[in-house]
Amino acid sequence: MQHEDNHVAVLDFGSQYTQLIVRRVRELGYFARLYAIEDFPEIGNPGAIILSGGPKSTADSDAPDLDFEALKKFGVPVLGLCYGMQLLNIKFGGSVHPSDKREYGPAKLCPAAPEGLFEGLAHESQVWMSHSDTVRDLGEECEVIARNQHGTPVALRWGDKFFGIQFHPEVTHTHEGTRILHNFLLQAKNLEPFRIDDLKREIIDGIREKVGNRQVVCGVSGGVDSTVLAVLLHEAGVNIRAIFVDHGLMRKDEGEEVRSNFHRMGVPIETVEASELFLGKLAGVSEPEKKRDIIGNLFIDVFWEAVGDAELLAQGTLYPDVIESASNAKSKASKIKTHHNRVDRIIELQAEGKVLEPLAEFFKDEVRALGASLGIPNDILQRHPFPGPGLAVRCPGDITEEKLGIIRECDAIFIDHLKAFGWYDKVWQAYAALVPVKTVGVKGDERSYEWAISLRAVISEDAMTADWVELPYQLLRQTSNDILNGVAGINRVLYDVSTKPPASIEWE
Ligand code: XMP
Repeated sequence: MQHEDNHVAVLDFGSQYTQLIVRRVRELGYFARLYAIEDFPEIGNPGAIILSGGPKSTADSDAPDLDFEALKKFGVPVLGLCYGMQLLNIKFGGSVHPSDKREYGPAKLCPAAPEGLFEGLAHESQVWMSHSDTVRDLGEECEVIARNQHGTPVALRWGDKFFGIQFHPEVTHTHEGTRILHNFLLQAKNLEPFRIDDLKREIIDGIREKVGNRQVVCGVSGGVDSTVLAVLLHEAGVNIRAIFVDHGLMRKDEGEEVRSNFHRMGVPIETVEASELFLGKLAGVSEPEKKRDIIGNLFIDVFWEAVGDAELLAQGTLYPDVIESASNAKSKASKIKTHHNRVDRIIELQAEGKVLEPLAEFFKDEVRALGASLGIPNDILQRHPFPGPGLAVRCPGDITEEKLGIIRECDAIFIDHLKAFGWYDKVWQAYAALVPVKTVGVKGDERSYEWAISLRAVISEDAMTADWVELPYQLLRQTSNDILNGVAGINRVLYDVSTKPPASIEWE
């Protein structure tokens, strides 16, 4: 394993935000690596250590623990977050008190002084809490360096190397969170800088090691994630077959575009035409989870049939897919919806060690940066995300060819206008979804009774939260006119002004 020296070691006590800590450290320009707590103290020679939060109480009989003597021996700055801080407090001779109520949400941070961890911070700022225990007695060496608005200690220091904070600096709701992490990392010496090329080499080495001589089947959809994955595998020189399954739920002319893009990049792909099969199985099905299930399973069937007995399946799963599906053993997040690439069948394959997900620790923007370092053209990397189940999740209710045709036309018009107005690259994702409700209108002096189409454009950092975009009226007006005049079956155009949460980005 590389980077065993002077990296930032993040020890995972099970918080759903742990990967975000790693991401923030990388954003600050330092190399970070996540370790399962069971692996401690085998964490190389870190330059700093962060103990994550976690769902357990330190009082639980199965509460995760760590070898404190070993931790001290590293002699580097240590930051405990939530559970991590409580554990440190106990190790330093203090105690933790289980409270009846879970404290969740915003709180005020009032640092004792604007120095150390809180250098450059305002007198008061918002932080995000998520815990049920609070520290009670403090050990001898302990100094309270910040309190909340009620005077409760929320940040502690033990000597000049150990720090603890009761809130989550890694989430954006903690307004000065990045600065606090930065201030913490400034306490460390000679931290290894993060370079995307190092990450690329590391992922490629990992792929080679895991794959060996086996053949890898890799599904490509034309999206950024699977494209980066296929190019990475190609670059790693392993034996791959990249397969594009056309499930009939693609956007207008998308199949052709995918083939020509891969041709441009010199990565051979095979196409499996399976539209009839998918649409046949989906006919009459309107329950969203059922649709996802059918698509996900069929996808694997089609793959497996196409490749015979492939030894490994590679997937471009990203970190948000992992936590939103809450289907991996470590995730504590509740299930929101099944993302198409984490259906049960794949989980079984995973248990057999037959799934390769080299991007599962990364967020979209990091994958784009990785793609750029692999030489993937920018227009491919800047493509908006498109969900695995395709237009199925943009077609509430049952799916028919007629509805798909309408969505494709409206979507193409909307996207063309976004590009023409220079807005395509400014938004995270934009699309048209069908609202399968008929309403009355007038077309050419005739009464019309047709469906509505909903346009959605959002900005997001990582798809976990999203905001709708204030597109120029002129863009919306021209899109609406072109749809109403050009697409049969639609007599109403709506613009979706819902944030995520509570809405999700897709309709289903
Ligand atoms: P939601 O709708 O969950 O979408 O807010 C978050 C992001 O994930 C994409 N998405 C999917 N991607 N398989 C995927 O590969 C899926 O099943 C899936 N469902 C949603 C969505 O387009 C958005 O970018």
